[in-house]
Amino acid sequence: MIPTISRGARLVTRHPHLMQNYGRLEMNVVRGEGCWLFDESGNRYLDLVAGIAVCALGHAHPRIARAIAEQAATLVHVSNLVHHEPAGTLADRLAELSGFDAVFFCNSGAEANEAAIKLARKHAWRRGEKRRNVILAANGSFHGRTLGALAATDNPAYHEGFEPLPLGFEHVAYNDVDALDAAITETTACFLVEPVQGESGVVPATREYLEAARRLCDERGALLIFDEVQCGMGRLGKLFAFQHFGVEPNAFTLAKSLANGLPIGALVVRGEAASSLQPGDHGTTFGGSPVPAAAALEHLAIRDVLDLDAHVETVGTLLRNELAAIADESPAVFEQPRGIGLMLGLPVREPHAAKDFVAAGLDHGVFLNAAGRNTLRFVPPLIVSADEVRDAAQRLRATIAAVLRQ
Ligand SMILES: Cc1ncc(COP(=O)(O)O)c(C=O)c1O
Repeated sequence: MIPTISRGARLVTRHPHLMQNYGRLEMNVVRGEGCWLFDESGNRYLDLVAGIAVCALGHAHPRIARAIAEQAATLVHVSNLVHHEPAGTLADRLAELSGFDAVFFCNSGAEANEAAIKLARKHAWRRGEKRRNVILAANGSFHGRTLGALAATDNPAYHEGFEPLPLGFEHVAYNDVDALDAAITETTACFLVEPVQGESGVVPATREYLEAARRLCDERGALLIFDEVQCGMGRLGKLFAFQHFGVEPNAFTLAKSLANGLPIGALVVRGEAASSLQPGDHGTTFGGSPVPAAAALEHLAIRDVLDLDAHVETVGTLLRNELAAIADESPAVFEQPRGIGLMLGLPVREPHAAKDFVAAGLDHGVFLNAAGRNTLRFVPPLIVSADEVRDAAQRLRATIAAVLRQ
């Protein structure tokens, strides 16, 4: 089969039997090692995407690979009808590290948010507040593609053609305390919010905004739930995003990098809400199955010896400075970078298009990603070294020069 190529964006259809709901870049990746990806022709690419903020410890980490292999040779799946050590121990570790009380495991970020939505409604229902069923989310939010998470997601393009969406979802301006004050009412079950919005182009919440959200939810009896699917697990320079902001939600969701590449999601809850879901209320066959749970445990163990938070602070500042210098060098092309730690965005000014830099990056050995309306998003493995950050900046400069010559 001859691949169909769209030259501008360098998207290729190689496997027509894969459902064509993605535009895939022409890069055919066969192997990864640390922060590098290798294609079938042996070309290597510095990976600034990490499988969309997933491979925090990079690719083919030997300890993660060993933990997966050992668990696979011991017990792969048994369901939640019985106990097993990997999920139990992982729940204990997450509770210990967060100070929260209970963890529900599932398989993805969208599923973790579905669980959060159901928990918020059931929590109100158990307290006899049957009218308190509204899930309030923020403008620009992304919470996943399943129908409940999609209804919480504020992106008309993702809604189009999928209506009717579930009822009881509202949206309010992001980072606007007055709007939030008006929006949280006696019918609000929860305010679900990303501490740093990822898919809409890396937009951090302010500390004041999250503090106000905490106060307003407390005053009005709503749960505050953080979606840390993208910004959690060390990406902001603290294990959990709420620790960066110093604001404790009632619950938060994790997925993406929790198991460094294996599918797992988690809803972590504290206080009274932690017992809202009782036997039969919610479930999933695979959630927290032994292999991803073992990988997640090993990920947490490796973090302990790496002092990753300090590293993210250092290399995050370096990357941010490099991006700021690039924006200074080409002020007609880029705005100043946004973001925290190793979750950074470089907004692209029209008529330039972020996706053109992504495509051109392939010729300069750098794997880039576009997010939001027109932003280059940088979510590399958290282990990226200072030298690799400088190398990435040089590759980005070469990519920019090539795009501007076109
Ligand atoms: C903040 C946030 N929530 C939820 C999701 C959905 O996660 P998943 O793709 O694993 O369903 C994403 C994915 O990008 C995300 O960034």
